[in-house]
Amino acid sequence: MPRPSANDITQDMLPKISHGRGVYLWDVDGRQYIDGSGGPAVFSIGHGDRRVNEAVAKQMERVAYGYRYLFSSDPLEEMSEIIRQATGLADMVYTTSGSEAVESAVKIALQYHFDRGDPGRVNFIGRRRSWHGNTLMATALSGFQDRQRAFAAALPMVGRVSAANAYRLPSGVSREGLVAHLAAELEAEIVRLGPETVAGFIFEPVVGAAGGALPAPEGYGRAVAEVCRRHGVLVICDEVMCGSGRTGVWRASEADGITADIITVAKSLSGGYLPLGAAVYTREIAEVMAAGHGGPLTGHTYTGHTACLAAGVAVQKIVAEEGLLARIRDKAPRWQADLRARLAHLPAVGDVRGRGYFIGVEVVADPGTKAPFAAALGVNGRIRAEGLRRGLICYPSGGHVDGAAGDTVILAPPFNATDGELDEIAEKLVAVLETVISGL
Ligand SMILES: Cc1ncc(COP(=O)(O)O)c(C=O)c1O
Repeated sequence: MPRPSANDITQDMLPKISHGRGVYLWDVDGRQYIDGSGGPAVFSIGHGDRRVNEAVAKQMERVAYGYRYLFSSDPLEEMSEIIRQATGLADMVYTTSGSEAVESAVKIALQYHFDRGDPGRVNFIGRRRSWHGNTLMATALSGFQDRQRAFAAALPMVGRVSAANAYRLPSGVSREGLVAHLAAELEAEIVRLGPETVAGFIFEPVVGAAGGALPAPEGYGRAVAEVCRRHGVLVICDEVMCGSGRTGVWRASEADGITADIITVAKSLSGGYLPLGAAVYTREIAEVMAAGHGGPLTGHTYTGHTACLAAGVAVQKIVAEEGLLARIRDKAPRWQADLRARLAHLPAVGDVRGRGYFIGVEVVADPGTKAPFAAALGVNGRIRAEGLRRGLICYPSGGHVDGAAGDTVILAPPFNATDGELDEIAEKLVAVLETVISGL
């Protein structure tokens, strides 16, 4: 039985993967798992799709990689057009991870301000309870104490504002007053840092691991974007986890009624077949950087790796041709309502929330006060272990109330999961939570 801990990284306790097909995975002992969370919200069209594998194999046959700074390629041009059409933004820097996409977004923001003659804008503001990635700056921007503590002393200084959490309101703030409160808090933080020093504000439209698929409340995106624009601060939407269609619209922030200056995408972009991410930015930013330095000063050896892009193009074509975003928009509200109904008999289920196929369940010790279970109980670790035991892959996470306590579990199935598979995921999650909660 794995150790019930929020950060169980003990490799030798993990089952060994054999193969995957659609929503299912099998380990080498023949045990079957239903992938209810697409691992960490990655596998947007399920596992083992032959069309993607063939597209990658064909590309590998021709050339694995035409180095981005020497060659263009069909997959590069096709993917760039797909992203332009989907986001309405102008250009992008490709990466091989979400962390690099965030790091690139930071450098693009800094370069934009520098190139337009405003080099004093070097500060960033992030939110408490957020996750932006593993590189130092992405970790600094994050609000995820468990993942930051060991590096805290070395992390660049970052301005900080509250999470936008309609389930856990700041003290003295009503649900109706939440958005105005958070917008005022952001403005106060910009003023505290000095508006002329602030380069960008980063937020996840739907918070992933740090919040348990926690969506921004209605009006939040527009309110914070208005504050940022008034102070010349760039809006950066981190859509690594919630974007590329997972919420039923390609850009998660579309539902917030805003177009960010920069958005980051990864995960569902290539659906886990090969690593691919991007920092995507507006025409204005592109033009300023082009005039200043001929283009963005950020890139990696594997920026725009051709085989990775071929995987991404194949995944995106499947999503488009099979109408999978419309499918999510159609099915998700019923699935979320069904899940809520199935969990209604468990008082410890404090909240079921999310957008599209990105659903979070928060478990609490006291539904009246919303008090979390003690961190020492390791509830999220137990959920993960019980899930694996029952053949359910879900994405539990901890610490979202005070950095230590607060347990959530994310479901993020493939966009093309069948009704029966969605049912099986819900049924298994109910059984997992019943077992874990009754065992506390
Ligand atoms: C919102 C968000 N941003 C950035 C990252 C970092 O992405 P990666 O793990 O691909 O580096 C993650 C990873 O989970 C994420 O959820």
